[in-house]
Amino acid sequence: MKIAVLGAGHVGLVSAGCLATIGHDVGVFDVDDQRIEQLQRGIIPFEEPHLDDLFITARAHQRLTFSSEADDVIGDAALVFLCVNTPSLREGDTDLSSVLTAARIVGDHAPRYAVVVNRSTAPVGTVDRIQSLLDPLPVVANPEFLAEGSAIADFLVPDRIVVGTLDASAAGCLLEAYDAIIRRDLPPVPAPVRQRLRSAAAPAPVIVTSPETAELAKYAANAHLCVRVSFMNEIASIADAVGADVSVVAQAVGLDHRIGPHFLQPGIGWGGSCLPKDIAALEQIASSRGVPARMVRAANRVNQDQRGWVAKKLSEFYPSLHRRRIGLLGLAYKPHTDDMRDAPAQEIVSQLVGLGAEVVAFDPAVREVGGLGPIASAEDPIALAEGADALVVVTEWPQFSDLDLERLRSVMRTPILLDGRNQLDPGRAQAAGFIYVGVGRRPPPARERPAPDAASPEERRNTEALGEVQGPPNKPRSWIDWPGPGRRRSQAPDRTRARRSTRGRR
Ligand code: UDX
Repeated sequence: MKIAVLGAGHVGLVSAGCLATIGHDVGVFDVDDQRIEQLQRGIIPFEEPHLDDLFITARAHQRLTFSSEADDVIGDAALVFLCVNTPSLREGDTDLSSVLTAARIVGDHAPRYAVVVNRSTAPVGTVDRIQSLLDPLPVVANPEFLAEGSAIADFLVPDRIVVGTLDASAAGCLLEAYDAIIRRDLPPVPAPVRQRLRSAAAPAPVIVTSPETAELAKYAANAHLCVRVSFMNEIASIADAVGADVSVVAQAVGLDHRIGPHFLQPGIGWGGSCLPKDIAALEQIASSRGVPARMVRAANRVNQDQRGWVAKKLSEFYPSLHRRRIGLLGLAYKPHTDDMRDAPAQEIVSQLVGLGAEVVAFDPAVREVGGLGPIASAEDPIALAEGADALVVVTEWPQFSDLDLERLRSVMRTPILLDGRNQLDPGRAQAAGFIYVGVGRRPPPARERPAPDAASPEERRNTEALGEVQGPPNKPRSWIDWPGPGRRRSQAPDRTRARRSTRGRR
């Protein structure tokens, strides 16, 4: 089938690459000539694992072209996908100008019959608005549920396909294009997609409904994810206050088959190009119809507060952050992407800089930090840790799980480790000599503190460094005790306990 994709952003290019992979002839149009020219030269403007593999294969089979001439791609297409951006305006309103421009381009270039498919996330009623511009061409809502980093598996092995139209033949045309995906009968695909395919039930669930219902389903899905994470972040604060371990709480909750384990991971808050924008838009959609949307608003508020977690925790150790060197491990809003749109790191940096801290960051994908404020970029985690007064895990890049913690600690000025993603093993961090603080989980209690004269020179050095550090105000001073580096397991029975109690968390 000939398919046109309008918009060469993340959703457009992932959709184009996947549709070409299942055998369609796909043309991508974008008003940005420079982007099209880059794509023609094989340059993908963002990180998305395996998208380049899909493009190479599709280009080799001449199933994927890029053009800045609308006629080249729309002229003989049976389906036209709208995948343009819908940024937030103030007060959560959505800027529909790109969608409406794209619709007008379709109107100017469309053949006699083509089904127009809106995949851009847009307020309920947008498909109707596009329809009024394009009558008699049928316009269908087909929300995308693509998460960055796993977008190809999300497209090719979806949990469901939602089609919003009252026109049965338009729905049929779109479902025909998705036939291989629905039957879970894919050509050779990258390993993560194959893996997802193995555990997916066939056929993929398809929901055909009204445009309004499809449009709301997308917002409701994203808002539900936000509510879940914000809920666990609130439980994490309660866990902190009562001395419970939120990771184990999340595990216990997620094992309930009615709840499930996903999106229960506490941290420094959710971000990215979709969730914050979509939850604000849903709140606005509701309030414009006189519905208060209290849960949605609360989830958003909890998330805003959560972004202050780093500054709050550091202030429990340091009366002032003036000239304290704080190293951020990660910047992107989640691993496997270089996307900084609405990343919690933006607010964390601005708060720390505002409090006078010297902020240094290392992120494997985000190398340009100038836009974040007056902060420095480190070449690697060791350079980041050098002379630091605290390290903060901001993004849970998998490689951070294997960091040489002893070495990191040895080059720091003060061995404080804030794990904003609960990624690291608290017992291992403590054994390496760190004062470990997670989100809603405490380090195991250090019951056996060495007498000062029994401590090694290294331990004494660290103890002295800690002399400058203030403990959390309402916690006993011993809370910042740690077993000390280099002690054998037999000397530290509390650490054995830590290992047992943290098993299965990661
Ligand atoms: C999201 C939706 O998942 C996707 O369906 C939609 O189409 C686009 O928006 P994405 O923005 O790529 O995808 O990221 P996602 O994986 O959903 O994570 C969003 C944020 O939530 C990240 O900041 C992540 O760190 C955070 N998160 C996620 C948590 O804090 N805890 C969790 O348990 C899961």
